[in-house]
Amino acid sequence: MALGPFAPDCLKGRSAIVTGGGSGIGFAIAQTLSEAGAKVALVSRNLDRLQSAAQVIRSGGAEVRTVAADVREPEAVQAAVQATVAAFGGLDIMIANAAGNFVVPFEDMSFNAWRTVIDIDLHGTFHCAKAAYPHLKTSAHGGRFIAISTLRALEGWPGCANAAAAKAGVMSLIRTLALEWGPDGILCNTIAPGPIEGTEGVKRLYDETGQTKAQSASVPLGRFGRAEDVAQAALYLCSDAAGFVTGTDLVVDGGRQRGQRGKA
Ligand code: NAP
Ligand code: COA
Repeated sequence: MALGPFAPDCLKGRSAIVTGGGSGIGFAIAQTLSEAGAKVALVSRNLDRLQSAAQVIRSGGAEVRTVAADVREPEAVQAAVQATVAAFGGLDIMIANAAGNFVVPFEDMSFNAWRTVIDIDLHGTFHCAKAAYPHLKTSAHGGRFIAISTLRALEGWPGCANAAAAKAGVMSLIRTLALEWGPDGILCNTIAPGPIEGTEGVKRLYDETGQTKAQSASVPLGRFGRAEDVAQAALYLCSDAAGFVTGTDLVVDGGRQRGQRGKA
């Protein structure tokens, strides 16, 4: 993973949690924050996957922890945060990246299918915010709370009514937290990626529905994003360079949304 123009020690002395850090976009973010000098805890359900991911990151010399937790369970998220704080001495950065998604038309979506995604994406982000707040508030660097969203949540998202509603809720929550937590020096933002190649998200949403080519052609920059594009956006928001940025969505989509709007 590349740090791009960022200094290798620009997050030195900070500690971070990345939920869903064992795969895809979360893994790329965790790896990049580590390369920038942060101590990172990877949190999700599948401990084997977390440990394999941690092994890769650790081989670069970084300090990495793994904690198994389901973000739907508030006590588990609290415990993951406590374990991280105990190991690293504090928490400066919380990245709420864990999510679940699948494509199903609304008429075939069961209540449990609706609830499951709302629980993971929206309630999971709530649990992360609740557990992280007391520690972010005391961060010597200024706390950072970042959630991964998507502009599809605001556009209407056929086949993903549950994820659309959940992510729109996440975007709204972040705006409110930015206002409530501003006086505590905690910056709250979302990153809204477009389709990111090689991820579970693209596999489920586009590869499996035969839309990959058409979706890729709809991006003005002519390609899907890469996980490192999102990771570097996260690094910017965590860095001192973003010290006056809060309450916004950093869109990392190669102009995809503008491209859709520009269509007749
Ligand atoms: P992914 O690799 O499947 O990442 C999702 C992660 O969340 C997994 O590591 C998974 O780990 C974890 N997770 C799922 N349910 C969980 C739960 N209940 N508790 C704790 N952890 C849980 O998919 P991705 O495509 O990289 O997506 C990452 C984020 O980017 C998501 O927020 C997604 O909505 C967003 N996003 C993705 C794209 C894209 O093109 N891929 C575009 C826009 C936004 P375990 O299975 O170990 O729990
Ligand atoms: N189509 C329709 N309904 C589906 C579905 C699909 N493809 N996948 C799951 N569901 C429904 C289930 O049928 C169930 O509803 P029911 O009880 O009415 O039958 C409900 O959703 C919960 O499914 P379950 O498998 O019990 O949930 P889980 O908690 O074990 O797993 C998921 C959560 C379903 C989100 C699972 O896909 C997951 O873990 N995803 C994480 C990775 C991911 O989604 N990455 C992409 C991020 S963009």
